[in-house]
Amino acid sequence: MMEDERMNASGSNDRTRPLGRTGIMVTPIGLGAWQFSEGKGGARGSWKSLTPEGTDEIVKTALDGGINWFDTAELYGFGRSERGLSRALQRAGKANGDVVIATKWNPILRTARSITNTVEKRLDCLKPFSIDLHQVHFPASFSSIKSEMLAMADLIESGKIRSAGVSNFSAEQMRRAHKTLVSRGCVLASNQVKYSILDRRIEKNGILDTARELGITIIAYSPLEMGLLSGKFHEDPSVLQSRPIARRMRLRRIVEKSRPLITTLEEIAQAHDVSVSQVALNWLVNFHGEAVVTIPGATKARHARESAGAMSFALSKDEKERIDEMSREFC
Ligand SMILES: NC(=O)c1ccc[n+]([C@@H]2O[C@H](COP(=O)([O-])OP(=O)(O)OC[C@H]3O[C@@H](n4cnc5c(N)ncnc54)[C@H](OP(=O)(O)O)[C@@H]3O)[C@@H](O)[C@H]2O)c1
Repeated sequence: MMEDERMNASGSNDRTRPLGRTGIMVTPIGLGAWQFSEGKGGARGSWKSLTPEGTDEIVKTALDGGINWFDTAELYGFGRSERGLSRALQRAGKANGDVVIATKWNPILRTARSITNTVEKRLDCLKPFSIDLHQVHFPASFSSIKSEMLAMADLIESGKIRSAGVSNFSAEQMRRAHKTLVSRGCVLASNQVKYSILDRRIEKNGILDTARELGITIIAYSPLEMGLLSGKFHEDPSVLQSRPIARRMRLRRIVEKSRPLITTLEEIAQAHDVSVSQVALNWLVNFHGEAVVTIPGATKARHARESAGAMSFALSKDEKERIDEMSREFC
């Protein structure tokens, strides 16, 4: 760990930034834990099942690299990801309060009442870790956003969770969620949305502008476009054949189209002696000041090491603008 990364008891360090206006501090790069689903639920088409030892090593490597927070969800293997994350953190010697934990409520075929009814189960899966950020996974429940946020506010008031966030919400939905939480003396911490240099829709559809206006953090998911922005599928397209079908189908269409962008990232990466994925992540969390943080996933410890290492160098203004220009055609 670098000398200037003095870590205190709550897991924050000199490099952390605020998570919305919650007072919670997170590193610009966290670790996504969808990959810890053990091949169950929606993960089946995208991620092969990891061994417990593999998961433990990924989490330990992320921590060693200075990452201080982790994003999981009820839907990631129906509790398996939360349990695996908790086990790995404990095996790495972490106790409650040492790291920041984000999870998500599954809204499918449910009402807002289920946010309250399921929180104990989430806490049980994550035990002994508490929930720093509880998010509504999509705007898809039978209840209104207002009811969902009132349930979240109740949980904040009772100390069951520390803050509330949303995911896959539009600018307007985010605004409504924030308004309800403010009426209860809370704030909306974050909106977790898809964002990468190959998918910059949030810069055009009002989500990023609204988040900045209201002091809500954008948590970028799939920041590496599920591995595409490492450049490995460009280097050897046959590698894609070994990946689960849903991911393979999705990525196959954009490999050739994105090749010029990958070439630019390679040139910049060489100048800094870093990898293509590190340049892609570094750009994402620095191009908009502190408005965006990200949670790359990992299936190997070296992925987590690379992601953490993406916080250790600075792109020049020219380099950031070059990437900006090259990636605009994918907006
Ligand atoms: N809120 C939502 O609706 C939502 C949706 C999706 C994801 N998420 C969250 O966001 C997190 C990240 O998104 P994601 O997992 O979809 O995509 P991602 O972070 O863009 O891609 C992660 C995958 O890319 C590959 N990879 C990562 N680092 C690499 C490196 N340095 N070199 C080569 N390959 C590398 C690995 O896959 P292989 O080794 O298999 O190639 C890894 O599993 C998830 O874990 C989850 O927490 C949230």
